[in-house]
Amino acid sequence: MTTYRQSDRLRDVRYDVRGPILTEAMRLEREGHDVLRLNLGNLRPFGLDARDEIVGAVAANLGAAQAYSDSRGIPSAREAVAGHYRRRAGLDISAEDVFLGNGVSELITLTLQALVNPGDEILVPAPDYPTWTGAVNLTGGVPVHYLADEANGWNPSLEDIESKVTPRTTALVLINPNNPTGAVYSAETVRGMADIARRHGLVLLSDEIYEELVFGEARHHYAAAAAGDDVLCLTFGGLSKAYRVCGYRAGWVVTTGPLDRAGDLLEGITLLSNMRVCPNVAGQHAIETALGAGSPGSSLPAGIVDPDGRLEKQLALTADALNAIPGVSCVAPRGALYCFPRLDVEEFGIVDDEEFVLDLLRTEHILVTHGTGFNWPAPDHFRIVCLPDAAVLERAVSSIGDFLERRRRRAA
Ligand SMILES: Cc1ncc(COP(=O)(O)O)c(C=O)c1O
Repeated sequence: MTTYRQSDRLRDVRYDVRGPILTEAMRLEREGHDVLRLNLGNLRPFGLDARDEIVGAVAANLGAAQAYSDSRGIPSAREAVAGHYRRRAGLDISAEDVFLGNGVSELITLTLQALVNPGDEILVPAPDYPTWTGAVNLTGGVPVHYLADEANGWNPSLEDIESKVTPRTTALVLINPNNPTGAVYSAETVRGMADIARRHGLVLLSDEIYEELVFGEARHHYAAAAAGDDVLCLTFGGLSKAYRVCGYRAGWVVTTGPLDRAGDLLEGITLLSNMRVCPNVAGQHAIETALGAGSPGSSLPAGIVDPDGRLEKQLALTADALNAIPGVSCVAPRGALYCFPRLDVEEFGIVDDEEFVLDLLRTEHILVTHGTGFNWPAPDHFRIVCLPDAAVLERAVSSIGDFLERRRRRAA
């Protein structure tokens, strides 16, 4: 009898955020348990709805959206994206430099397919958003993980990056603000990464989907601005997070730098865009309205991105509550939607962090994601999504504290 098998290319492709732990959570839910899902940065289930005018813009265009669009996206949305980067990042770009896609996720895979040859090495942060490592593996490229330094606010270590560049290195990925750590990279770090790309002729691949979700004193620094005219930089962004329309699948990649030397690569990206015909057209109609809300030169007003300062408060209270648990430490996130606390593995008897989060799930019915799922090399971290309101988060962290206490006694 024939057995039907997935391709060998998928051997090293993983996406644990929705992996076996989610399957177990769904099994518990079918048994009638209420599982608190703190595993996905999906805003609406937590009462964080998009602004009415964004939803209205899509509704008003549903008729027109029946047709395919240009494979790179509708002109008005591409112009809106270009205008966004001209205003915020001071980039000299036009709609011609913008490709729209079904979320950043699709564009990561599409771009890497266009760029990477088997054996090419791509520098990816550890921890990372795992689509990056998975998509590099899918192309036959080799993800080479560089260290984000927990002791330095999770800023990437420039020394570690530099030491991992080889003649096979093609591109350097940065994720800023970062998922899963909540880091917002310093100007010096972003500049340093652009300089490394410049020195070694690497393409900068900058995932900035959380660019607007930056809190307190933290400031976002655009990699494309640091890359300037002489480093090819592909900046990824979209409406899923700050604009709260994850399901519209509205994302983009913007190309800057020496494009006259990137014609062949851009043709490749265009070819793959053509092959998938076009991004979801209805979702594209959200873009112009969403991006039109900012005043020239400045970020979106805080009340638009984070109504009532809710996200900022939730991140801070989660980090504080985690830090109050003996054996746990958490670098306070300065952006995005997550905390990535460290656990004392000896104290809590943790050898395998997937086993640890499964134990938490089965005991407390709280779903978080293990750190190794983000390509972190040790079983001593997990990611918690800080989207529920303060009361729910406080209860969740308190239950995690009780659970850890029981594990501590068991391990003693
Ligand atoms: C760093 C990062 N990049 C990309 C994505 C995917 O975004 P999209 O909804 O645009 O596919 C996410 C989603 O969580 C993310 O955290």
